[in-house]
Amino acid sequence: APSELRYDGQTVVVTGAGGGLGREYAVFFGSRGASVVVNDLGGSFKGEGAGSSAADKVVSEIRAAGGKAVANYDSVENGEAIIKTAIDHFGRIDVLINNAGILRDVSFKNMKQADWDLIYKVHVKGAYKCAHAAWPYFRKQKYGRLISTASAAGLFGSFGQTNYSAAKLALVGFTETLAKEGLKYNILCNVIAPIAASRMTETVMPPDVLEKLKPEWIVPLVAVLTHKSNTETGAIFEAGGGHIARLRWERSKGALFKPDDSFTPGAIAAKWKDVVDFSQPDHPDGPADALGLLEAATQLSPSPKTEQPNFKDKVVLV
Ligand code: NAI
Repeated sequence: APSELRYDGQTVVVTGAGGGLGREYAVFFGSRGASVVVNDLGGSFKGEGAGSSAADKVVSEIRAAGGKAVANYDSVENGEAIIKTAIDHFGRIDVLINNAGILRDVSFKNMKQADWDLIYKVHVKGAYKCAHAAWPYFRKQKYGRLISTASAAGLFGSFGQTNYSAAKLALVGFTETLAKEGLKYNILCNVIAPIAASRMTETVMPPDVLEKLKPEWIVPLVAVLTHKSNTETGAIFEAGGGHIARLRWERSKGALFKPDDSFTPGAIAAKWKDVVDFSQPDHPDGPADALGLLEAATQLSPSPKTEQPNFKDKVVLV
């Protein structure tokens, strides 16, 4: 059997750990030697109200099993206070799991500013505030593990969830950049897009489906990504029902146009098949290699001695 992954001597902060997936993470880390900050605002799944009992219950559970845990009831929008709880009680922070979340589903036509703003605040601003408060500790100790929680809704779009989709995909960009900035400090940052039974999904999925989507089945992936042995960073993983897979971007081969007077909308329309042809894809982790493309363009140019034309000035509309 593989050896058990442990987190002895480490402090793990789990936001939104009073229920659902967050609770599963917190209980797991508490059982594997970590000191756990169980953060939860304790409101409804729509972000209304607040209370301390959700976080307290999970802390009691971890302690009853012999683990170390402390509660924090702040909103993730107040990330400094959450990280301060870790430092005050345990003297360090090693792992941050940005998990807290709410839903305000409504068709775009009926979306109110408040629905948009609250989703942004909890998911995007909350993740930013928690990560920003943890970051100096991660850098100083040259160690950190960060998980952001995206969603299929953000990756693919989902009816009635423009606010939530926008926020969830924002976390992908956020985490990709943190992965790049954190790499030389051994701060590894990854995104998960889970699917699991919780109060968030119990109203939208039938019981027999939910039965096959146990929230504890998301835990092993999070455990691997936050362990000291992990080397993966800047990646997106889907997890649900026991299936775990990595997602990535795919770029079509594309079409190359001479950056001269022939580079017209009509020319692009004529080559549209090539623009969207994924038969020879690549899988970029950065922007297109502009220099490489320019070199290719120069080779195609009939007169290599002429100066490289300026793209912008040369576009002629048909
Ligand atoms: P949940 O509603 O059971 O858990 C979310 C927890 O976050 C709750 O305990 C809630 O009190 C807490 N919370 C909400 N706002 C907070 C705030 N401002 N500050 C601190 N805590 C706050 O839902 P679930 O399913 O466990 O969701 C966990 C994460 O996974 C969320 O980010 C959610 O968007 C995401 N997710 C879940 C999916 C699923 O299938 N369950 C699918 C895709 C994403």
